[in-house]
Amino acid sequence: MNNRIENLLTLLIKNKMRKNIVAGNWKMNKTLQEGIALAKELNEALANEKPNCDVIICTPFIHLASVTPLVDAAKIGVGAENCADKESGAYTGEVSAAMVASTGAKYVILGHSERRAYYGETVEILKDKVKLALANGLTPIFCIGEVLEEREANKQNEVVAAQLASVFDLSAEDFSKIVLAYEPVWAIGTGKTASPAQAQEIHAFIRSAVAEKYGKEIADNTSILYGGSCKPSNAKELFSNPDVDGGLIGGAALKVSDFKGIIDLFEMKAYIYNDEKGDNITVTDDLGDMADQAAEYRTELIEKICELDDDLMMQYLEGEEPSVDDMKKVLRKATCECQAIPVCCGTAYRNKGCLLYTSD
Ligand code: PGA
Repeated sequence: MNNRIENLLTLLIKNKMRKNIVAGNWKMNKTLQEGIALAKELNEALANEKPNCDVIICTPFIHLASVTPLVDAAKIGVGAENCADKESGAYTGEVSAAMVASTGAKYVILGHSERRAYYGETVEILKDKVKLALANGLTPIFCIGEVLEEREANKQNEVVAAQLASVFDLSAEDFSKIVLAYEPVWAIGTGKTASPAQAQEIHAFIRSAVAEKYGKEIADNTSILYGGSCKPSNAKELFSNPDVDGGLIGGAALKVSDFKGIIDLFEMKAYIYNDEKGDNITVTDDLGDMADQAAEYRTELIEKICELDDDLMMQYLEGEEPSVDDMKKVLRKATCECQAIPVCCGTAYRNKGCLLYTSD
């Protein structure tokens, strides 16, 4: 197989292993009636779409049982924003992981900085919460992140490493079920965001810490979300970083147009083309004046795809250009049935800057 295509496919397969996720955190917003309306509106907005990422909404406890049956479970997962660190019993006002799961919810945010700061949640308490969530079949979305003074003192890596202790005593099997969310506290609800470079740097650090503890494969499979004033206008740049696998969205999750705008970033149309020398495969979401160049190298790209399949190659050698559908099939096969990355005629869909080529 041609090296360039091989590298691209490897990248695709690798990226496919971990999920892209856009998760909403409603926090203490919305009455039950307002929450139901918001969930319905989101469900309708996604009714005729196939999001190219997992979509999750984490709601206040009292909304869960009403919201869960309202949304299409194949497209929208529902989660809580917290759960108790005890299994059951005399803990007035608490809600257990089992109770959350009994509503049909599948996720739970744990370790959010607001819980840590206002409700005294420690590394040890969070260890118990994570274990109970997992024991009850919930996927924890485990949040970590530094406050401003820690960032200013350049202590962010140290801080997140210490917070990871709550999940680093899990077995490898259990750890591989969790989702991490890096949320710099100074960026939450403040309108400030980490720059894409800052986000990438610390996400890569977090992934390396996971790799050190659980090995590279598990680290490569772990989704690490970014959170903190994420909105459609800045999410694109943040998500295009190789170690940023989506977002945990607060304020922008309360408005369907904003939340959907963020989800849609994973379905952005984009193109892949060979460069002038044919040495590199280039990826862009805006061909601009490269359109001519892309057209020029179209033939070469079609050849590369034909190289992946004998029948296609035969057809090509006989002077017949394979249909886009046939090329799609071959690409799908070559990328391990990559349903997560829909291929469409004329364009390719972006998966974190990784593209699957199609013709036109
Ligand atoms: P924000 O919140 O998007 O409103 O900053 C994110 C979060 O706290 O999860």
